[in-house]
Amino acid sequence: MRLFLRFVVPLFIAIGIIAYVVVPLMENLMAQWFVRDLDLRSKLISSTLDDSLFDVLDERSKTKIQSFFDRVKQDERMYAVGFCDKKGLLAYKSGELPTDVTCPATGSGELASQVLQEPSGPLHVAFHVIQGSGGTLGQLVLVHDMSFIQRRSAATKQYILYVFLAVSVIVAAVTTLMAWLTWRGWISGARALFRSNGFRHPLAPGTHPELQPIVRDLRELIRDLETDRRLRDDSQTTWTPRALKELLHKELSGDEVIVVSNREPYIHVKRDDHIEVQTPASGLVTALEPIMRACSGTWVAHGSGSADRDFVDAHDRVAVPPDHPAYRIRRVWLTEQEESGYYYGFSNEGLWPLCHIAHVRPVFRTSDWEQYKRVNEKFAKAILEEVKTDDPVILVQDYLLALLPRMLREKLPNATIITFWHIPWPNPEAFGICPWTEEILDGLLGSSIIGFHTRQHDMNFVGTAERFLECRVDRASWTISYGGELCAVNHYPISIEFPGRLLRQAKPVQDARSIIRKRYGLAKDCLLGVGVDRLDYTKGIAEKFLSVERLLELHPEWIGRFTFVQVAAPSRSRIERYRELGAEVRSTADRINQRFGSGVYKPVILSTHHCEAEDVLDHYRAAELCFVNSLHDGMNLVSKEFVASRDDEQGVLLLSKFTGSSRELPEALIVNPYHLDQCAEALHLALTMSPEEQRDRMRSLRGVLHEFNVYRWAGRMLMDAARMRQRSRFLSRVAATGWDTTISQ
Ligand code: F6P
Repeated sequence: MRLFLRFVVPLFIAIGIIAYVVVPLMENLMAQWFVRDLDLRSKLISSTLDDSLFDVLDERSKTKIQSFFDRVKQDERMYAVGFCDKKGLLAYKSGELPTDVTCPATGSGELASQVLQEPSGPLHVAFHVIQGSGGTLGQLVLVHDMSFIQRRSAATKQYILYVFLAVSVIVAAVTTLMAWLTWRGWISGARALFRSNGFRHPLAPGTHPELQPIVRDLRELIRDLETDRRLRDDSQTTWTPRALKELLHKELSGDEVIVVSNREPYIHVKRDDHIEVQTPASGLVTALEPIMRACSGTWVAHGSGSADRDFVDAHDRVAVPPDHPAYRIRRVWLTEQEESGYYYGFSNEGLWPLCHIAHVRPVFRTSDWEQYKRVNEKFAKAILEEVKTDDPVILVQDYLLALLPRMLREKLPNATIITFWHIPWPNPEAFGICPWTEEILDGLLGSSIIGFHTRQHDMNFVGTAERFLECRVDRASWTISYGGELCAVNHYPISIEFPGRLLRQAKPVQDARSIIRKRYGLAKDCLLGVGVDRLDYTKGIAEKFLSVERLLELHPEWIGRFTFVQVAAPSRSRIERYRELGAEVRSTADRINQRFGSGVYKPVILSTHHCEAEDVLDHYRAAELCFVNSLHDGMNLVSKEFVASRDDEQGVLLLSKFTGSSRELPEALIVNPYHLDQCAEALHLALTMSPEEQRDRMRSLRGVLHEFNVYRWAGRMLMDAARMRQRSRFLSRVAATGWDTTISQ
């Protein structure tokens, strides 16, 4: 309709102007031209006839004169011919000379002319003086029929109108077509712009190149505004469970939130004659559990406990935490063979050493890969059974479920899938060792957002995708366009609950100190260092022991006055490398204890029992220092837990430079775990650090945790998801207005 008003109405106006202004003007002009032509023609005829007429008149034969005029009259345009004698009387005529043609007085010999409007049509009358030897003989009267002019001008008028009409129609059609194409281009460009800011649908490469600069500018503008808003939102919010709940209520109200991970937060285990509920030693669980408490969703996980099946309902669900249920676990059961191939095999003998630079060779077996695919499918099936809406928010966790995002995307195209990779992502060469690199990347890129701990891991991932897939990477917006879908890559450094729930019930530091020191039989003047890790070769446990040994060599005054307790929760012990590691660290500890121990004194104590969270907290609070020595770690939450536990603002953190957390906690003593002398000196420095310096450092570290706690980690991801969903809904509404119904969400 708008197009019609814009182009067809002006066309009619133009036709009116042509018909009522231009055409009459042209008619007038043409009439003047024709009169001038007839003047000339008459002049020409009269000068041609001059001599002959003179001769004929001279003969004074009436018959000859009449036949002369009759011949002249034969000219098809000639209406009549006459002759006025020198007395001004009409002497001869041929044709119907109009009665109102009167002979004028004999003039100078110049042709005089006039136009008469007769009933038969306009006539052009011209008088020409005929001179004889004895003076003026009379005047020749030539009357031309002007009706042909009218006919011609009518025909011309018609032609002009037709031509103009045709030209106008063509111009209007071309203009309309161009306008429509431009409009379409703008609309699709604008849509692509929206999509490229977080939608799964890309701006197809090469589409509308003329719009690219504008699209780029607009994208940058939107990105800046979003970054501003995000920073504002981030920094203005005090991140607490309540803030997270409010965010969920405000930004994702009514939206379903599902977390999926291999490890479950509560494990029911049979112990002799009773059942124990264990919380696993897992950074992932530490981070996600408080979030699930806050948002009451469903957590889908592998039911790995020996008594897990006894505690689920008919749909394999169990409400947790057991004492105050706030959300539910949906347990997924795996066969022995599946667990072996998927968890121990492909995930932990393949991907785990592949992603960590710890010099352990990854092992990839086709049979493990088959189980990995099968188990990812099992998880997908369980999630599809749990979802109630077609657009849930699904938080996929870690390297064990890399194929899941694609599987979910195929079944739930409207879902917002956020995948968080908790371990490092190595460089493209290293990742390319995996025989199924493309499949893993394809699986992950089914996500709406992929999160890592650090920008370096973002870069490595994007580089790997670029190297192995046909995809387009936009490093300005950190998005990957692949297979018609867009995936955002971002870093969200994970954190812990701060201030923590457990800390509120924690024993006073003095009580914790006496319990722990008593447990390990420490002398009064013996200082305590602790380490808390899974028994994993990435954690640098043997290197910690060697550093303690070096400390005692370099600073023998600490012999008998310093003990290092390593809590090492057994992990993945069905894998040979883990069993070897257990043996290695045990023998290293024994060797050092033999070398520097005496009586009850042991410089190194290795505890390989499962330790519940309260007990771990006691260790942190009892220690003079905490030693985190990972050879490579995505984040490392032990470092943050130790800082969080020290509300007395005492204690020193030694932290490996190869952890993600070393970027956020610079007031720790940052060490290189491969440099034993440096680690030994750092231990010495920690043990001799003044309480004031400890306080200053600890205060600053706690400030970081206060600002960047786990609620903020989750909040940032969920806010990004909420924004994405808002934009997606907006585009759906735009599509519903009929702009272009081909747009899919
Ligand atoms: O760090 C990666 C990770 O998956 C963590 O989330 C967790 O701390 C650890 O590995 C747990 O390992 P698992 O579940 O194999 O015991």
